[in-house]
Amino acid sequence: VKVYVPRDSGALALGAEQVAGALRTEAKTRGLDVEIVRNGSRGLYWLEPMVEVETAQGRIAYGPVAPGDIPALLDAGMLEGRTHALALGKPEELPFLVRQTRLTFARCGIVDPVSIEDYERHGGLRGLRNALEKSPAAIIEEVMESGLRGRGGAGFPTGIKWKTVHDAQGPRKYIVCNADEGDSGTFADRMIMEGDPFVLIEGMAIAGIATGATKGYIYLRSEYPHAAAVLNEAIAVARAAGVLGKSVLSSAFAFDMEVRVGAGAYVCGEETALLDSLEGKRGQVRAKPPLPAHQGLFGKPTVINNVISLASVPIILDKGGAYYRDFGMGRSRGTIPIQIAGNVKHGGLFEAAFGMTLGEIVDEIGGGTATGRPVRAVQVGGPLGAYFPRSLFDTPFDYEAFAAKDGLIGHAGIVVFDDTVDMLKQARFAMEFCAVESCGKCTPCRIGSTRGMEVLDRLKAGIAPETQIETVTDLCNTMKFGSLCALGGFTPYPVMSALTHFPEDFRPVPAREAAE
Ligand code: NAI
Ligand code: SF4
Repeated sequence: VKVYVPRDSGALALGAEQVAGALRTEAKTRGLDVEIVRNGSRGLYWLEPMVEVETAQGRIAYGPVAPGDIPALLDAGMLEGRTHALALGKPEELPFLVRQTRLTFARCGIVDPVSIEDYERHGGLRGLRNALEKSPAAIIEEVMESGLRGRGGAGFPTGIKWKTVHDAQGPRKYIVCNADEGDSGTFADRMIMEGDPFVLIEGMAIAGIATGATKGYIYLRSEYPHAAAVLNEAIAVARAAGVLGKSVLSSAFAFDMEVRVGAGAYVCGEETALLDSLEGKRGQVRAKPPLPAHQGLFGKPTVINNVISLASVPIILDKGGAYYRDFGMGRSRGTIPIQIAGNVKHGGLFEAAFGMTLGEIVDEIGGGTATGRPVRAVQVGGPLGAYFPRSLFDTPFDYEAFAAKDGLIGHAGIVVFDDTVDMLKQARFAMEFCAVESCGKCTPCRIGSTRGMEVLDRLKAGIAPETQIETVTDLCNTMKFGSLCALGGFTPYPVMSALTHFPEDFRPVPAREAAE
């Protein structure tokens, strides 16, 4: 009997390794024929470790399973898919999954992440094979047609970026995958790298064929050791299967790649700092232009895309740009893996077409707060994203709609807070985060963030509040328009949104206490 126990970091953090160990031991003691497959996660983290058993009726899930539950589960007939207090039924029928549109994450949690046979059985490599039948220009045309925009956060059209690199002259070009996933509350990159690494490898190989690059690098944050292990294993398997190497699936194209691990700096997620780091230098932001598409890694034309952008390419080449484009709203086409985190009942990954409202995501999908208290604020788009109050919960998940409300989707991480949150403290945290992570190259960010902390401290102490609010507003404007990169430039979003939507938290302490 095949039993799936995730090897995903989130599931491991919740005890999946011990569950797999207990199952192995117990099955041996009882003389049961059990084959344990270490899959990725389906992204329903409140149910992890979620164990799935392959039965005659399909897979049956149980969760959250603790190691001590294994004997009772076996006694109850788990291997035949029988019922038990932890039985969840067929995983694909769980409401959290039924409501999703899984295009990029279609295989995540289902397949064995390092089995290329499993990958192909579930539709893998069809995009690459189609790409090999097309000219590079036609591949780029398909990506343009799909409307795919950079999922790292900036939303720049992927097809245009690829065309710029395709058109650039150079003896050598590179594909760089930005896997320095640093936003708070985000885990989509990690989840797909651990659960379906071949889809990223396939996407990068297609990018190489389309632009004329023969070498790829995955720049992975050091905090993701499990992803590094899965990726390295998958790259070796892909090479042996002819997906990578001198003859990409027996064509005239060669493409290979390797994983490089960063050293734990948030700013190295900024593309030019990332390139410096990849070149072996200290990760510092470069001025643009030149764009990486013209002069990137080692000064050569470089495609630098986020994990999810590249992992969305195989389905576009498999089913066509028009198929992908059919999902979504306005200029935000296709699907986006929304990561629901923080103080929330049902935290996890929810891939959906653009257009759901923030309220639907937080209240219906996320189920409100884990504490059961009212939701007061949600931060969307990482530590540099804006805080949204309930009054803006009708905002649809769309790049332009969020920008119109002075916010950003970013990498689509949502962090939920209940009514005990102190928004002045959150605003100060944004300034502190910027001060700690600043690369120090430009003044508004390097100095501004520290001054920002001081001003907010004075505000908290009740020293001339009107002056402090005026100063922090002015400071935010300087940082927004005067910083060289998004770290200093976007720190004003959390600060100003907190101030605008939750002004009551910015009153000096005596006034706040009197009000309470
Ligand atoms: P950007 O708007 O400067 O650039 C977007 C991308 O388009 C870059 O790759 C740039 O090189 C490329 N580009 C621009 N014009 C081009 C052209 N004419 N031809 C070809 N390529 C072109 O934005 P940036 O600074 O790269 O990213 C900022 C975003 O990063 C923010 O929106 C934020 O949400 C996100 N972010 C994501 C994090 C994560 O963990 N995923 C962490 C922090 C920020
Ligand atoms: Fe460095 Fe901050 Fe300036 Fe970005 S904004 S270049 S992180 S100092």
